Amino acid sequence: MAFSAAETANPIHGPVRWSWHAHAHGTPTDPIAKAWLAAALAVPADALNLQREPRGRPRLGPPQQAYDCSWSHSGDGLLIALGHRVELGVDCERMRPRPRALELARRYFTAPEQDWLAAFAPGEARDRAFLRLWCAKEAVLKAHGHGLSFGLEKLRFADTGAALTLVECAPGLGLATDWSLHEFAPAPDYVAALAWRDPPPR
Ligand SMILES: CC(C)(COP(=O)(O)OP(=O)(O)OC[C@H]1O[C@@H](n2cnc3c(N)ncnc32)[C@H](O)[C@@H]1OP(=O)(O)O)[C@@H](O)C(=O)NCCC(=O)NCCS
Repeated sequence: MAFSAAETANPIHGPVRWSWHAHAHGTPTDPIAKAWLAAALAVPADALNLQREPRGRPRLGPPQQAYDCSWSHSGDGLLIALGHRVELGVDCERMRPRPRALELARRYFTAPEQDWLAAFAPGEARDRAFLRLWCAKEAVLKAHGHGLSFGLEKLRFADTGAALTLVECAPGLGLATDWSLHEFAPAPDYVAALAWRDPPPR
């Protein structure tokens, strides 16, 4: 493992560490992300080789290519994640009433996921379940790099009791069992997910 608790005060989960930052909606995220990533990697900010893929995915280049990063903003917060020897995606959403949760699920989620969501009582329980699933899917699709245009219905999560687990996905995402998911609350009233897998050969 590349990170030890002694190295940082930021929370660590397996090969990934994350950090939560204040962020005003509509303002650039790059300066905040770059500053934290450089500090986490112990390099000067101007030595951080942060690039963008054509679809917008951030990617660290040499000499930091053994690391991967992802970030997500919602409400007034920004969640940044850094992983070692993994392909990584993160998503966060602020909790707020989602009266159209079932309607959106019918449009974007698989049939078993729609049934799972419909079993929750309307209101906060269903809103939270919807956001958990949304974050899980988006985190995988951000790690993959195509983003939402890949299709939220092309991957299916199941609730194993304590957590959501990827159980089925389109071949472009590799094997469902390759993916790890960590769900957490980076701040009160936020839902978030980190998704990662071993980097596929390039
Ligand atoms: C990327 C995407 C998932 C972001 O969703 P969102 O909920 O609106 O935003 P989030 O706050 O969670 O994440 C935004 C961050 O994701 C990252 N990102 C952007 N595109 C990405 C992609 N294709 N894959 C992974 N991460 C991406 C960026 O760091 C972005 O932050 P920034 O723009 O402030 O730098 C969504 O906008 C999407 O899928 N877009 C389509 C990408 C695409 O096909 N673009 C074609 C352009 S040619």
